[in-house]
Amino acid sequence: MTEPANPGPRPNSKDPQAQIDWLVAALRWHNHLYYSKSAPEISDPEFDALMRELEALEKKHPLLAHPDSPTRVVGAGARGGLAPMEHRVPMLSIENAMNAEEARAWLKRITDDVGDVELVCEPKYDGLSCELVYIDGKLAQAGTRGDGKVGEDVTANIRTIASVPQKISKAPKRLEVRGEVYINKQDFAALNERLEAAGQKTYVNPRNTASGSLRQIDASVTAQRPLSAVWYQIANPEDCGVKDVQGAIKALQGWGFKTSVEMLAGTGLKVESFKGEQALLVHYEAYGKQRHNLPFEIDGMVVKVNDMAVQAELGVRSKSPRYLLAFKFPPEERETVCEKIEVQVGRTGAVTPVAILTPTKVGGVTVTHASLHNADEIERLGLKPGDTVMVHRAGDVIPQVLRVTKAGGGKAFKFPKRCPRCDTELVKPEDEVVIRCPNHLGCPAQVLGAIEHFTSRTAMNIEGLAEKNIQQLIDAGLVKSTADLYTLKGKRDGMVELERWGEKKADKLIAEIEKSRQPQLARFIYALGIRNVGETVAGLIANEVGSIDGLLSATEEQLNAIEGIGPVIAASVVRFMQEPHSAALVRELQKHITPQAVKKLAAGEGKFAGMTFVFTGALTKFTREQAEEMVRERGGKASGSVSKNTSYVVAGEKAGSKLKKANELGVKVVTEEEFAAMT
Ligand code: IVH
Repeated sequence: MTEPANPGPRPNSKDPQAQIDWLVAALRWHNHLYYSKSAPEISDPEFDALMRELEALEKKHPLLAHPDSPTRVVGAGARGGLAPMEHRVPMLSIENAMNAEEARAWLKRITDDVGDVELVCEPKYDGLSCELVYIDGKLAQAGTRGDGKVGEDVTANIRTIASVPQKISKAPKRLEVRGEVYINKQDFAALNERLEAAGQKTYVNPRNTASGSLRQIDASVTAQRPLSAVWYQIANPEDCGVKDVQGAIKALQGWGFKTSVEMLAGTGLKVESFKGEQALLVHYEAYGKQRHNLPFEIDGMVVKVNDMAVQAELGVRSKSPRYLLAFKFPPEERETVCEKIEVQVGRTGAVTPVAILTPTKVGGVTVTHASLHNADEIERLGLKPGDTVMVHRAGDVIPQVLRVTKAGGGKAFKFPKRCPRCDTELVKPEDEVVIRCPNHLGCPAQVLGAIEHFTSRTAMNIEGLAEKNIQQLIDAGLVKSTADLYTLKGKRDGMVELERWGEKKADKLIAEIEKSRQPQLARFIYALGIRNVGETVAGLIANEVGSIDGLLSATEEQLNAIEGIGPVIAASVVRFMQEPHSAALVRELQKHITPQAVKKLAAGEGKFAGMTFVFTGALTKFTREQAEEMVRERGGKASGSVSKNTSYVVAGEKAGSKLKKANELGVKVVTEEEFAAMT
């Protein structure tokens, strides 16, 4: 099939054929963006509205309907790249109800047919549907839905999700399980934070990110994404002796699949059976209330006829089964005015445009501004200050401008050439999408970020410097850099006078700063905030360079030779140390700080010489950093990922994928206690 084309603007004419033609083209286009590109331009409610409009027109003018109208097919075909996977039982879609009236009508239609029925509700997960096939109890194949008949083979990718059982026991010869792959709201936010810090493009919402992540050609890319999965259906229940929806859930739980029961634990929502319209509406209300408290995204609830014999009696009509209903939440979108566009400077120097909005409530939370990400996004939206816009909260959290609904006649926004905070000329690094202020050590926005990082718990661990306190110190001219923190002792009076400070707070902070003068070298290196240098890497570098002087004179070859450090990190460190301003800052810090000498063990010395440890799960005796330091002090290496070269995986509570990988590779796994005994 040829790729659909953008249908362009909607025709003004009232001619039903023209409207039908446009709607068909628009739905194909948006389906294509959604399924094949994982980059929808309109929201689900908008898509549903177009679909309904087309359905209504086709009903009124049946002769004008296209024989292959999107109202008659499910989704879009499989995307190129991944191998196709055929579904033995087609993966259908579900009829939607947008309000109580439509849900009542659905229930009436079925009860008129088969009498009073037992119903069960589950969350309608907003992810990507997926099928797993187990043969002789082993996960044999996994695929996306695709067009319902043929999807994409994502077996290798699914295997990276720790909670998906690779093997199950007491299963029929062939078992087909269906569910949804998704990303938790928190995991999504953390992923975007990481990307932002690395100067990379952030994702728009968890659903698209889950979809894009699962459909990677290279499963090692999938492995780096925080995917989760839940399973709600057995496609061949007759082979499992399962008679109703609740029975299917029990069977799935028995095999170790995560089901809606686990997903809803602690929320008060239950996967229970009930009868009647009243109870259905009570469930809907309860889901609506809990929606924003759930750690994952849902866009409604799925209502299911419990008894599978009754399901069979009801059957499938056109493209969806009559025994299922997707009872959706009303769209959480609001119109408001974009009063102006401002640019903000982040702690890494990234300059991002932000829409300042007339405050409006979206999903129970007042939204006052929305990131516009970059200049391209403003252009894509065609947004000008003064325009009326539609906003929603991506991932139920992050405010986002969806589109302009009415032009306000304002002037186009011009991206500034200079930093709004320090007036330095902005740059666009070649390998990045963001525009940056290069004045990392002078720009007040970046100094604030640098101090926050420098003083953080895992870096220099200086307490008492919340963001607003740092801001006060900067505003009062008491600090201009991280090194200035060590001169605060002599500026006690200035601190005492700050609003809401006083002697006690000033003295406490001074004492905290004094305490930090002899840090471990690894912490100090990490505290500098060099791009791409996290705690583990800082530890490896500290072991190699041994001192601040060693760090200042390290060469790329030298760093590159460290196991666990590649050319990107090596170049990043050397660039930082050679840049005159940052080198000057390190020298300045050196006047105040004496890192504890790293007991530099010669190669091959120490109890753990030649060994590599990986820590996973929650440790209780020490922090992860402490444990890794213990390994390094004994001549060993601590690594973040398990490979066949790993000597030991130390598994704490709730250890996940790394533990699994260790078991797969046959790497020795020890408990935290056993590790402590080895030291
Ligand atoms: S039952 C006919 N249960 O929503 C297939 N589906 O919009 C129905 N979905 O294709 C399977 N949560 O991918 C079922 N708790 C749930 C669901 C669910 C989300 C998806 C499913 C379906 C889509 C329809």
